[in-house]
Amino acid sequence: MPEAVFVPRPILVGMPGAGKSSVARQLGQRLRLPVVDTDAVIEARIGVSIRSFFQSEGEAAFRDLEEQVIAELTGGEPKVLATGGGAVLRRANRARLHAGGTVIYLRIFPEQLYRRLNKDTKRPLLQVADPLARLQALYAERDALYRECAHFVLDAHGVSLGMLVNKVVMQLDLMQLSRPGARAP
Ligand code: S3P
Repeated sequence: MPEAVFVPRPILVGMPGAGKSSVARQLGQRLRLPVVDTDAVIEARIGVSIRSFFQSEGEAAFRDLEEQVIAELTGGEPKVLATGGGAVLRRANRARLHAGGTVIYLRIFPEQLYRRLNKDTKRPLLQVADPLARLQALYAERDALYRECAHFVLDAHGVSLGMLVNKVVMQLDLMQLSRPGARAP
C-alpha cells in the first residue's frame, strides 16, 4: 500500500500585530499551499471593514461570524490559515482549530506589539485612549488560550519574517518526523 503523504495544515494564532498574515503568506509560498485569512473572508462576506462592522453590529455579532467562518475553513482542502487575534476566545473555535491542523502560536509581548501598533487605525479593539493598557489586558486574557489551542509556540519578537517562517517550517518538519510510522527522508 502506498504510504500516505502528510500535508501540513498550518494555522497561525496570536495577538493582533504578531505577524500571522505575513507569516501565512510566505509559508503558503514555501509549502505551495493556498493561504486563507479568516479576517479577509469575513470582510469579503460583510462588505465593510471589520472596524465599521464592530461599530454598527457590535463585537458579539463579529464573534458569531468569526466562529462560522472558522468552522467552514478548518475542514476541506489543505491550506495555510491565518486567524484574527480573538479567534481563540471561544472554546468551540479552539477545539476546531486544534483538530483542524497544526496550530502555531506566534508569541509576542504587549509592550513589543505597542511599538508596532500605536498608530493603528484598523483594529477596533485598539481605538482607545490607552492602547498599551488594552494590549496588556488582551494578552493577560489570551496568552493561556493561545497556548491551549496551539501545538507549538514560537517567539515572534526580534526575528526577521524570513527567520520566523524558517522556524515554522522546521517545527512542521519535526512534527512530521515524530508522527508514528513516519520515516526519515
Ligand atoms: C481582533 C483582531 C483582528 C480582527 C478583529 C478582532 C482581536 O485581527 O479579527 O479586529 O480580537 O484581537 P488581527 O489579529 O489580524 O489584528
